[in-house]
Amino acid sequence: MLEIKDAVAVITGGSGGIGRALARYWQARGGKLVLADVAEAALEKAREELGPETVTVVCDVTREDDCARLADTAIERFGKINLVAPFAGIILDGLLVSTDRETGKVNKKMSLATFQKVIDINLTGVFLTVRESVERMINHGCRGLVCLISSTGSLGTAGQINYSSTKAAMSVMPKVLTAEFFRRGLADRIRCAAVAPGYVGTEMVRGMNQKALDKILADVPLGRLVEPEEVASLVGEIYRNEALAGETYFIHGGLRLGSRG
Ligand SMILES: NC(=O)c1ccc[n+]([C@@H]2O[C@H](COP(=O)([O-])OP(=O)(O)OC[C@H]3O[C@@H](n4cnc5c(N)ncnc54)[C@H](O)[C@@H]3O)[C@@H](O)[C@H]2O)c1
Repeated sequence: MLEIKDAVAVITGGSGGIGRALARYWQARGGKLVLADVAEAALEKAREELGPETVTVVCDVTREDDCARLADTAIERFGKINLVAPFAGIILDGLLVSTDRETGKVNKKMSLATFQKVIDINLTGVFLTVRESVERMINHGCRGLVCLISSTGSLGTAGQINYSSTKAAMSVMPKVLTAEFFRRGLADRIRCAAVAPGYVGTEMVRGMNQKALDKILADVPLGRLVEPEEVASLVGEIYRNEALAGETYFIHGGLRLGSRG
């Protein structure tokens, strides 16, 4: 079992709901933090809350140089990286095509920009964050975990062709990376896994249409949103338990199993 005490976590989306909950969880157990986010003011607030030991890096995960600087900062300040949590993410929902109720003809399409922006942050941003961090983990002899964040949306959610596609990618990446690390003799010290939450009580979800959310929650056996702290705790358990690798671990309170019929 790995210890969190003195272990270094690099968290993107670090001032967001789940990222911040993971930061609190990590710090409460004696871990060191490098928090990255594009939202500068929110990041500063996170540092005020977590204290001066917390390193913050303003970073746009779609930028290669920002992701390299983030990983370099962790090494310069702490000499190692043990947990990579590339949690920066967005939703921009819409249908592939919408049709006019009267004519049945297509009257609206998801724009390329709406599709691409989600791909850039949720997929390319993760690729860059992970690539730059893993390079340093290998070169500095670090032991630890790359923990991606998928979603129940990875199973396919109408209105989220962009988001669901990126989250499906997060479920397959742990298998790709575990196999690659194994080939290179690294898999016994660097693992990759993913967590896949259902609806978590953060800005991302609280910004949803309340009626739609109430309808979803009515069929969730747990009967409420998953708390960001519950996701953080799962990430911590996966970090500690080195037998967990290459998989996606769902945390959704029974979502999709709870139809009352
Ligand atoms: N909230 C949920 O129900 C839920 C469910 C499943 C998965 N997730 C995933 O969890 C992750 C965190 O989501 P959250 O609920 O905490 O959302 P959030 O909106 O609270 O946090 C997301 C953070 O990402 C940051 N961000 C956005 N674009 C960025 C960029 N280009 N570079 C760096 N940072 C950027 C935002 O500033 C924000 O702080 C996301 O990947 C999301 O897809 C969330």
